[in-house]
Amino acid sequence: MSELTFPQGFLWGGALAANQSEGGYREGGKGLTTVDMIPHGPARMPVKLGLEKRFALREDEYYPSHQAIDFYHRYKEDIALMAEMGFTVFRTSIAWSRLYPNGDELTPNEQGIAFYRSVFEECRKYGIEPLVTLCHFDVPMHLVIEYGSWRNRKMVDFFARYARTCFEAFDGLVKYWLTFNEINILLHSPFSGAGLVFEADENHEQVKYQAAHHELVASALVTRIAHEVNAENQVGCMLAGGNFYPWSSKPEDVWAALEKDRENLFFIDVQARGAYPSYAARVFREKGVTIEMAPEDAEILRNTVDFVSFSYYASRCASAEMNEQNSSAANVVKSLTNPHVPRSDWGWGIDPLGLRITMNMMYDRYQKPLFLVENGLGARDELTADQQINDDYRISYLREHIRAMAQAIEDGVPVIGYTSWGCIDLVAASTGEMSKRYGFVYVDRDDLGGGTLARLRKKSFWWYKKVIASNGRDL
Ligand code: BG6
Repeated sequence: MSELTFPQGFLWGGALAANQSEGGYREGGKGLTTVDMIPHGPARMPVKLGLEKRFALREDEYYPSHQAIDFYHRYKEDIALMAEMGFTVFRTSIAWSRLYPNGDELTPNEQGIAFYRSVFEECRKYGIEPLVTLCHFDVPMHLVIEYGSWRNRKMVDFFARYARTCFEAFDGLVKYWLTFNEINILLHSPFSGAGLVFEADENHEQVKYQAAHHELVASALVTRIAHEVNAENQVGCMLAGGNFYPWSSKPEDVWAALEKDRENLFFIDVQARGAYPSYAARVFREKGVTIEMAPEDAEILRNTVDFVSFSYYASRCASAEMNEQNSSAANVVKSLTNPHVPRSDWGWGIDPLGLRITMNMMYDRYQKPLFLVENGLGARDELTADQQINDDYRISYLREHIRAMAQAIEDGVPVIGYTSWGCIDLVAASTGEMSKRYGFVYVDRDDLGGGTLARLRKKSFWWYKKVIASNGRDL
């Protein structure tokens, strides 16, 4: 095989998100947000899925987001570590509720703006390009309680006001923007994904797709605003990616896999192509869904994204016989367990070739540059007696996935950059654990909030530094 190479100027870095790293959940004027209500432990799932209304905090529960890894106070130290690895891009998100504590105010909270300005200036100091998600699994709780979150069309205006504030306040500091993190996760984890809580006996599909419509309109509207504020702005959508494989070559299984892919790609089809895909009408009919659209929506949706970003952890698998019993949501999106790929300690399939397949499919479908903004292995790390973490398993996972990405580039897929997930250990979104670690930097923190929060470089830290310095040649 010829040597795999990355283009000149390829962006290398890592990703965090406000909701899983910042903490400081009531500091600097910040309002309560959805993630602040999601507890650790067995009560977590029903809240995340929107099956249990949780509008007040409880004394007897632990909420991992409240302090998280304290990025709010330690961002200078953390960004210095990223710079030491040679990052040229750092992905994070803005917590909407730091800028608009309730979400429906007319003017922003200046303390919130000052905090993010300082974060982005710190990045720029080291020549790191910020890549900023406007909404990564957090909606101000006031908007959930008063308006029902994204089921309400008013959210489009609230979000547009917030986004405009970001584009104007951080103009010149931030050029790469993502609208909604893993927008398709709204279907699979409705409260954490989009602040949705279901009422008894309502059609969940109706609620989810109406909310999806509002997010899609909001996403397109803010894409337009971003370009109006500065024509240099580059806006991307963001998919929780990973193709579905058919369980067998039975035509019914192949059809099931195609349908499952469409369920997730539906969102990107709209964001990248500017209109609802042709299959949507039949799907909505079958689900008993009727979308209420405003007259201007079709026009707004034409504001397509500049690039398509996605996360990739694992491929998925579907069959015609797939049901609640034989599938698992280990990787949030329900899938059959593919016997041909190994699995992580959390049951997520490990499939680097699946990344090459996914990237080729996405470029064939959208013809827009891709940005791989999440990828990594959640694993338990052990500290040796002399405080070392020899995470060869993580190095091997990342090496194989970076190689697969290089192969996709060789296949002709344009890729802007790569930000591995959780470059500094953070709180896991699915389980709320700290022990599910992704980072090159270890954070001394346990699942129940114990530990000093000190940062330690892992073996993978030095490996990634070398990868970046060689522009991906030295894997
Ligand atoms: C993606 C999310 O779903 O996967 C992240 O965008 C999340 O927020 C990541 O943390 C990994 O999932 P988990 O559950 O292992 O944290």
